[in-house]
Amino acid sequence: MAAKNILHMLTPHKHVSPFDVNMALDAGYDSVTPYEDVTMEDVADLVQDVIFSRPPDRGVHSAVFFGGDDAVLALDMIETAKGALVPPFGCNIMADPAGSFTTAAAMVALVEKTLKDKMGKALSDVSIAVFGATGVVGYCAAVISALEGARVKIVGYSGLERVQKRADEMKERFGVTVKPVDGSSDEKNTAIIADVEVVFSAARAGVQVLSLEQLQTAEKLLVAADANAVPPLGLDGIEVMANGEPIEGTNALGIGALAVGPMKSNTEQGLLKRMIEAKEPQSLDFRDAFQLARSLVS
Ligand SMILES: NC(=O)c1ccc[n+]([C@@H]2O[C@H](COP(=O)([O-])OP(=O)(O)OC[C@H]3O[C@@H](n4cnc5c(N)ncnc54)[C@H](OP(=O)(O)O)[C@@H]3O)[C@@H](O)[C@H]2O)c1
Repeated sequence: MAAKNILHMLTPHKHVSPFDVNMALDAGYDSVTPYEDVTMEDVADLVQDVIFSRPPDRGVHSAVFFGGDDAVLALDMIETAKGALVPPFGCNIMADPAGSFTTAAAMVALVEKTLKDKMGKALSDVSIAVFGATGVVGYCAAVISALEGARVKIVGYSGLERVQKRADEMKERFGVTVKPVDGSSDEKNTAIIADVEVVFSAARAGVQVLSLEQLQTAEKLLVAADANAVPPLGLDGIEVMANGEPIEGTNALGIGALAVGPMKSNTEQGLLKRMIEAKEPQSLDFRDAFQLARSLVS
C-alpha cells in the first residue's frame, strides 16, 4: 500500500491557522493534524513520536510544520526538531509562522524581479528601508535582502531600542549586518527614505507608514512594496493590486499587497508539495521560500 503523506501542524497558539490547513490539504497531504499551545519543550518529544512510529523509509512521507507568529521562535523550533531526529529515522520539517516566511519571500522576489526587469539592478545594488521589522514579515524580508547583499535599514516606529535588538539577533543568527534606525516620527521616516532605492512596508494591518507626499520626496526610490491589504494601506499611493505600476509624482514603481498575496500562496503550496514529492526529508525556512518565490516570479 502506498504510504500516506501525514502532516503534523504545531503552533504555540490556541489555534493552528485554517489558511495553512487548507494549503496543506490542497497541496496533497492525506492528513493534517493540529497541535496547539506547543512549547519549545514539547517539540523533541512530538518529533520523535512522528519518526519512531513509521519505518525509516516512510520518514519522507511524514512532516512537521511550525506556525505561530514569531519568526525567531519558529526558527528555534526547526533547529530543535532537527536535533531530535535519530537517523535513519527522519521527517520533513517546515515553518511559516503567520504566513510570514512565504509572504516575505514573495514580496522580496517581486521587488527583485521589478528591479531587474525595469531598472537592470540587483538587490545587491540597492539600499532598502524595512518598516515593521520587529514583525515576522518585516524580519524575514530584512534578512532575505541582507543575505542577497542589499544594504538594509530596519526602522523602529517606537524608537531605536527594539530594532537594535533585532539587528543584533540577525547578526548572530545569520551573520548579516543591518542598520537599526529610529522611525518614531514622520520627519525621521522622511529622512530615512531619502537615500534608499527600495522600501518594504510590513507594518501592522491598517496602519499607514508613509504618505504619498513622503514617498514623493524620496528622490532615489525605485521600487516600494506594501504587505498590508487593510485600509489605510501601509504605503499611500500604491494600489493593492499594483504590480510594478508607477507611483504618482515619483520615478518609482509600486507593488501592492494583493500582488504579493497570490505569489505567497503559490510559494507556500510549492514548499508543501516539495515535502510530499521529495525523495529525502526536507528542512525548509524562509531562505528556501525565497529561492522558490524567485523561480516562480521569473
Ligand atoms: N499580502 C499577504 O499575502 C500577507 C500575508 C501575511 C501578512 N500580511 C501583512 O503583512 C503585514 C505584516 O504582517 P506581520 O504578520 O509581520 O505583522 P506583525 O507581526 O503584527 O508586525 C507588524 C509590524 O508592524 C509594527 N507596527 C505596529 N504598529 C505600528 C505603527 N503604528 N507604525 C509602524 N509599525 C507598526 C509592529 O511592531 P510591534 O513589534 O510593536 O508589534 C511590527 O513590527 C501586515 O499588514 C499583514 O496584514 C500580508
